[in-house]
Amino acid sequence: MSLPICTEELFGPSAAAKVRALEARYGNGDLIRVLEALEIAGPFEVLSPWELRAPDGRGLINAGGYAALPFGEGYPPLVAFVQRYLREGRAISLPQQSASAWRAALETNLVALLARHAPSHADSQVFFSNSGAEAIETALKLVRAARPGVPYIVNFTRGYHGKTLGALSLTPNEEYQAMFRPLLPDVLTLPYGDAQALTDALRKYGKKVAAVIVEPIQGEGGVVTPPPEFLPRIGLLARRYGFLVVADEIQTGLGRCGYDFASLALGLEPDIVTLAKPLGGGLVPIGATIARRDLMRQMLGGLGSKRHSSTFGGGSLAMAVGLKSLEIIEAEGLSERARVFGQRGLERLQALAARYPDFFEAVRGAGMLFALQLRPVLPPIGLSPELVSQLGSALGLRALDRAGIHACYTLNSSRTVRLTPALNMPEPVFDDLFRRLEGAARQPQAGRLLRAPPATLVKLARLALRG
Ligand SMILES: Cc1ncc(COP(=O)(O)O)c(C=O)c1O
Repeated sequence: MSLPICTEELFGPSAAAKVRALEARYGNGDLIRVLEALEIAGPFEVLSPWELRAPDGRGLINAGGYAALPFGEGYPPLVAFVQRYLREGRAISLPQQSASAWRAALETNLVALLARHAPSHADSQVFFSNSGAEAIETALKLVRAARPGVPYIVNFTRGYHGKTLGALSLTPNEEYQAMFRPLLPDVLTLPYGDAQALTDALRKYGKKVAAVIVEPIQGEGGVVTPPPEFLPRIGLLARRYGFLVVADEIQTGLGRCGYDFASLALGLEPDIVTLAKPLGGGLVPIGATIARRDLMRQMLGGLGSKRHSSTFGGGSLAMAVGLKSLEIIEAEGLSERARVFGQRGLERLQALAARYPDFFEAVRGAGMLFALQLRPVLPPIGLSPELVSQLGSALGLRALDRAGIHACYTLNSSRTVRLTPALNMPEPVFDDLFRRLEGAARQPQAGRLLRAPPATLVKLARLALRG
């Protein structure tokens, strides 16, 4: 029996409806059905690193990609490098049982980059995995190994650290956690940004806290920058009580928020740093956990060196792409560029929010990470307000798509859509992004646009209620 679809066919144009039907049947069907009801299911075609084409022929500016597309899609210097790697590279693909030049180089460069901002990390070490959640799992195991018998891990409201069971335990969202309990015990969830609550909790739990895990700026929580005293206070308390500090820089790190490491820029020196998204250059999955040498040794020292492992982690192609991605971020000064363009973008967003208050409820930004919190969607056909609110992000995505912008869902903040443009998005495209956004907001019935046609809402409601 031959397989139903051969790769050769996929290089040519494919019928969008057929692709969606196959996905709905054999993949995460209801996700595709929701996107289809919103008419944003694609598949999308790449026109340039920063622009896409929808199946109906409309051009979209790509501000999606969940902060994992630092250079957009198929950035030519990265693609040329990968082609060269595949042509000329002689390294084995999965160097689990050997040294590897590519892995060694990325370990070296990541530690050097971190130590540039935090010299005490000059001696740190790196463990590679394949996703953000896995980088968090590694961090969790490092904490357990280094603080045996110390039960509590502190996390924060609206934090997002991934959906594998350990990472999910640290992601306090009922929608994601409820079905999977029991999760890890002894997770102490405190209000994000509240230095006093943290201080009080530590007075109570003191030496029973093994670690605090924190996003220096919350991404999935809706792009929330904490008050200036919050992150430094974590460091201060860590020195007082001896817990470890894990900075989850999976979304904020390597340029997205305008810094190589947002935690360090905002006054917190972590013991463990997790990285993922941009390191893969939008092409390959990578997770990286950087930790002080003594922590790494406690988990992996001596015969324990196989205690934590991953078949694909540290794979040569991923390492090569990670190396090149870091190199491009450095060579093109993308952290700095994200800071400058991000500030300009935020000012434009704030001006739009002031001019169109019926469309925007709030806007926030940190570097090239923007959040648009949209006005509540009124239920025109008797849907419950909770349900309509839940669907708010999805409807926001639809409204932006209509205006020619491909945006990102926000996993931990309802009615919020994020724009995560490439860090190297050319200025004219970046300007056009905000012009299009204004186009969406300027509609005389912007609110109605957000509400979407009743038929769409009915379809969405049916799908939502199936769960
Ligand atoms: C801060 C943060 N941590 C962890 C994760 C999980 O990463 P992944 O989806 O690669 O597992 C994400 C993903 O959005 C994230 O933003």
